[in-house]
Amino acid sequence: MMGAMLDLRAEARAARPDLPALEHLYRDVRETWYGRMVNEYASAAVFVGLAEQLRGAGLGEELALECESFAEEERHHGILCGAVVEAAGGEALAPQPVREPFPYHHEVEPLEALLRNLISVSCLSETAAVALIGAERLRMPEGSLRQLLTRIYGDEVGHARFGWQLVSRLLPTVAPAMRERLSDYLALAFAHFETYELAHLPERYTPPAEGDALGLCSGSVARELLYQTVETVMVPGLARLGLDAERAWKLRHQAARAAGPIR
Ligand SMILES: [Fe+2]
Ligand SMILES: [Fe+2]
Repeated sequence: MMGAMLDLRAEARAARPDLPALEHLYRDVRETWYGRMVNEYASAAVFVGLAEQLRGAGLGEELALECESFAEEERHHGILCGAVVEAAGGEALAPQPVREPFPYHHEVEPLEALLRNLISVSCLSETAAVALIGAERLRMPEGSLRQLLTRIYGDEVGHARFGWQLVSRLLPTVAPAMRERLSDYLALAFAHFETYELAHLPERYTPPAEGDALGLCSGSVARELLYQTVETVMVPGLARLGLDAERAWKLRHQAARAAGPIR
């Protein structure tokens, strides 16, 4: 018997972009965009969890609804990435992604738990998405694939900005002890983030230059951009908000070892 499937074929086929006729790269296109389809679709669960935490922390229905609209956008990104898979001759059909459960952090109070996840989701993951997708978009010639990527990019900017704004509003109101604990947590969040991102950016993958037109990027170039984003955006940005981000980044491996295997 087949397990549960994520079947985006009908919606993805209806949204297929016109791809440049570089058929020799379509196998890579299918593989790359299939991975994105699954990741994007699965990331909707993160915003469903964040919406629940916002309600739990009593921060108002409006913010929770905004988060739920982000979940919808992530599902739409899954369909758009599936549309590229279909355009390259593949199928927007995958085993239902198994995601680790959303970390509610019940061991700390609701506000602190929420801040942990806002930092890890918006200030790390979504901020990295903005940098990586933004760079890919700039290398892509005008056309329907770039339009598709622009749509995703714009949404990711919103997902990152949401967290940065909310964290910068909330963090000054918390007790210094909580800020210190959040700085400790940040070291772990950085370790988890780095492991996850590197797993999705294979170092040895180097497409030919014309791959830019299809959203195929060199793993090593993307990794370099990732580290630049940590050092020039995330660390200084979080330090400005009062977290000891430089120390957290430096001690990430140590923190991860002390905490045991990452979930
Ligand atoms: Fe997304
Ligand atoms: Fe996102």
